[in-house]
Amino acid sequence: MSDLIQSVRGMNDCLPEVTDTWQAFESIVRDWLRRYGYREMRTPILEHTGLFKRAIGEVTDIVEKEMYTFVDELNGESLALRPEGTASSVRAVIQHNLLYDGGKRLWYSGPMFRHERPQKGRYRQFHQVGVEALGFAGPDTDAELIVMCADLWRELGIAPTLQINTLGDIESRHRHRAKLIAYFEAHQDALDEEAKRRLYSNPLRILDSKNPAMQALNDAAPKLMDELDEAALAHFSALQAILRDNGIAFEINPRLVRGLDYYNRTVFEWVTDQLGAQGTVCAGGRYDGLIEQLGGKPAPAAGFAMGIERLLSLMETGSVTLATPAPDAYIVHAGEAAQAFAWQAASALRGAGLAAVLHCGGGSFKSQMKKADASRARYALIIGDDEAAAQQVTLKPLRDTAEQTRVELTLAIKYLQQ
Ligand code: HAM
Repeated sequence: MSDLIQSVRGMNDCLPEVTDTWQAFESIVRDWLRRYGYREMRTPILEHTGLFKRAIGEVTDIVEKEMYTFVDELNGESLALRPEGTASSVRAVIQHNLLYDGGKRLWYSGPMFRHERPQKGRYRQFHQVGVEALGFAGPDTDAELIVMCADLWRELGIAPTLQINTLGDIESRHRHRAKLIAYFEAHQDALDEEAKRRLYSNPLRILDSKNPAMQALNDAAPKLMDELDEAALAHFSALQAILRDNGIAFEINPRLVRGLDYYNRTVFEWVTDQLGAQGTVCAGGRYDGLIEQLGGKPAPAAGFAMGIERLLSLMETGSVTLATPAPDAYIVHAGEAAQAFAWQAASALRGAGLAAVLHCGGGSFKSQMKKADASRARYALIIGDDEAAAQQVTLKPLRDTAEQTRVELTLAIKYLQQ
C-alpha cells in the first residue's frame, strides 16, 4: 500500500457526516448575515501574487513564507492560492466600481490556503467566513461588526472573549515606528534573529514575538498608545461606548497588532482558551488605506473573518448541537410490481418536498429493513406486491415504537409532511 496517494498534508477531506454539520452551520451564518443586510460575493481562489504582496505586506509571515504561489507556465504570470479574502474583496470592489453609489456590506466564505505547520486548528487549507463593510468610516461600523459576531456566538452556543486595540492612523504609526527602531537599535544585543531581521522592515511585528527572551524588552518598548492622535482616540472611545451600550464585554489588549499590514485604528480578535494554541476563532479590524493602496478611489473599510474549523471545534465543547438532516423515508420493496410502484412513490415523495431514499440492489426484506435503519430515516415506507396492487404503502416508524399503518400513498405523504 506504499503507493497509496493520500491528501496533501494539512488539507482535510470533509466527509458526509462532517459536511452535514458544516451545512447546518452555513445556513445559520447565511441567515445571520441576511438579517444584518450583508450580501454575498464570490471571488476566484487564484489571484495575481502581487495582489497579496501589496495588500497584506511584503514583510508578513503570510507573504514571506506561507503563500502557495506558482508560475502559470502558459503565460509566465505568478499566481497565488488566496491566503485570505480581504485583498480579493477589495480588488473586486475596485474592479467593478461597487462603491459608486455608497458603502457596501459584503460577505464571502470558502477555502483559504497558507503553508503553515499543521496542528490542531491550524491547517494549510482552511475555511473562513469573511465580512467586509466598505465605504464606512465611523466607529459605529466597527461596533456593528463586533456586535453581530456576539449575536452569532449566542446562536451557536459559544462564548469566546473579545480583545480590542487601536493601531491609530498612518502618521502616528510612522512616529511610533521611528521610536521603536531607535529603541531596538539601542538594545541590539538583546534582539533575537527574527527581531534583527524585522528591525527596519516591520519593527511593529517584533512586539508580536512569542520568544520568552524578548518579553521584557517588548514590555518596555515605546507604546503606540502614547503616539495616537485625537481623532483616532476619539474613534476608539466611541467604539467602546457603543460596545458598552450593547452589553458587549471586552478587554483592551495593547499588544494586539495582527499579522497583516493593512490595518489601522480598530483591530479585534475573539479568542478562547478551549482550543489549545490556536485560540483565535475570529479576527479583523479597520483598513482605511487599503482601497486606495490597491488603486481605488480612497474609501474607508473594516471587516473580519472567522475560521470555520475552529468555530466548529469550539461548538463541540458547548451545548448547542447542529441538527443534521436525515431522510424522511427509506423505501423498501419486494416483488416486480412493488418495485415499479416504489419508483412512483419515491418520485411523489420528492415532488412533495420530502427526502426519500429508494432501496437499490434488491435483497431480502430483512436486509432492506437493516439498511432502512442505518439510513437514519424517520420511517420505512414498505411496499410489497399486495400494497402495489392497492396503491398503498405501509409506514413503519423507525425512531419510536409507534405502530405501523397501511395507507394510501397520498395519505402517507400528508402524514410524512406533518
Ligand atoms: P486572519 O487573522 O489571518 O485574518 O484570519 C482570520 C481567522 O481565520 C483566524 O482568526 C482563524 O480563526 C482563521 N485561520 C487563519 N489561519 C488559519 C489556519 N491556518 N487554519 C485554520 N484557521 C485559520 C484575515 O484573514 C483577515 N482577512 C480578516 C479580515 C477581514 N480583516 C478585515 N477583514
